[in-house]
Order: sequence, then structure tokens, then C-alpha cells
Amino acid sequence: MKFFVDTADVKEIQELAATGLLDGVTTNPSLIAKSGRPFLDVIKEICAIVDGPVSAEVTATDHKTMLAEGHKLAGLAKNVCVKVPLTMDGLKTCKVLSGEGIQVNVTLCFSAAQALLAAKAGATFISPFVGRLDDIGQDGMELIADIIAIYSAYPNLKTEVLVASVRHPVHVVSAAKMGADVATLPPAVLKQMFNHPLTDKGLAAFLADWAKTGQSVL
Ligand code: E4P
Repeated sequence: MKFFVDTADVKEIQELAATGLLDGVTTNPSLIAKSGRPFLDVIKEICAIVDGPVSAEVTATDHKTMLAEGHKLAGLAKNVCVKVPLTMDGLKTCKVLSGEGIQVNVTLCFSAAQALLAAKAGATFISPFVGRLDDIGQDGMELIADIIAIYSAYPNLKTEVLVASVRHPVHVVSAAKMGADVATLPPAVLKQMFNHPLTDKGLAAFLADWAKTGQSVL
């Protein structure tokens, strides 16, 4: 399973990339706004840090302008993945860009029917938002299971399932059990995954016992 980080904060991306566990990055207009920095500069910087796909989202809503934005974003670096919303114009744009060999992440997916359309449009990734479904009382992980079942039934569909709007490590573990290809995680959730109180307790005990030996490895 691949791990992407869902942020436009370059410092956090640097810190997490240094673990060697980061396979890509997703951004969206809200995350760019939160960074307070120029969009294109941020994307270029992230692409220089991470080798894997870096999602940069178009902000137009009509096909013609989305396509022009997509071309501009794709020209920033070879690992830019153009993100388009799951609308008719978005999927029309996805079809053209993917036909040109440009990676496309179709975002704001909330139903299996939408995911099926995105795959037919040649999306590299489909981003179902599990947390936002949970927020309105629907089980976001059920949508992931449905999409995986549908895509598995048609091996010619190459779209990868990118679990988005992740709120906690339990989402990640559930997605992994289902065989989702990717999860994009807020930095805090990725950091949470490293932690367990028994790890801390066990390490403290080992270190205390080691100190009693008076030895050193180096
Ligand atoms: C994914 O690409 C989106 O940027 C993101 O996961 C949205 O998450 P949110 O629902 O926490 O805003």
C-alpha cells in the first residue's frame, strides 16, 4: 500500500519524506490557501522533494479552462498529477489528459457510480472521501469496499483507489485490509501510526536496563 501525505506544508513534507516512507503528496485549493503561499511555487518545491505523484488541483469548472490549467500544472514537473473534480467537465478533462499520458487524480468522489465513470475516463487515481461521508452519517469505508469490488470485476480498469479524507489510523488499517492501493494522510495521522503506548513503555524499560550494564554499542 502506498502512503501519500495530504498537505501543502513543505516543511512537514520534508520531515515525512526523510522517513523514506512517503510515496506521494496530495494538495487541494484549501490546503494551498492554508499554506498562504503561491500555488505554483509550492507545487514545484514539493515535486523536488518527493519522487512520486504530487496532486495539484485545477480551479476552473469548465472543460476548456480546466484543460489549460491541467497542461500548465503538468508542465511544472514530471511527477505532477493533475487533480480534477468529479464533474462532467472534470471527467472530460481527465479523458483528454490521461490520453496524453498525464497522470490524473479524480477528486471529490462520494459514490461507486462516480468511481466507475472516473475509471472509464482513464483516471490514474480515484479519490473517495471517507471522512466526509462518515461526517454525514454514511460509512465511508463501505464506499471503498464497493469501488474495489467493482474495479476488481473489470481487470482492464487500471485506476488506483486512493483513500482520501482520512481522519485516523483505523481508516488506514481498514483500507489496507480491503487492498486499497493508496491512502493520503494528514501529517498528524501518519505520525499517529508510529505510536503505541506499549512501544514507549517497552523502550523505556529496555533503555533503563541497558543503562545498568554500563555498556555502549559504539
Ligand atoms: C484528498 O486529496 C483531499 O485533499 C483530502 O483528503 C480532503 O480531506 P478533508 O476531508 O479532511 O478535507
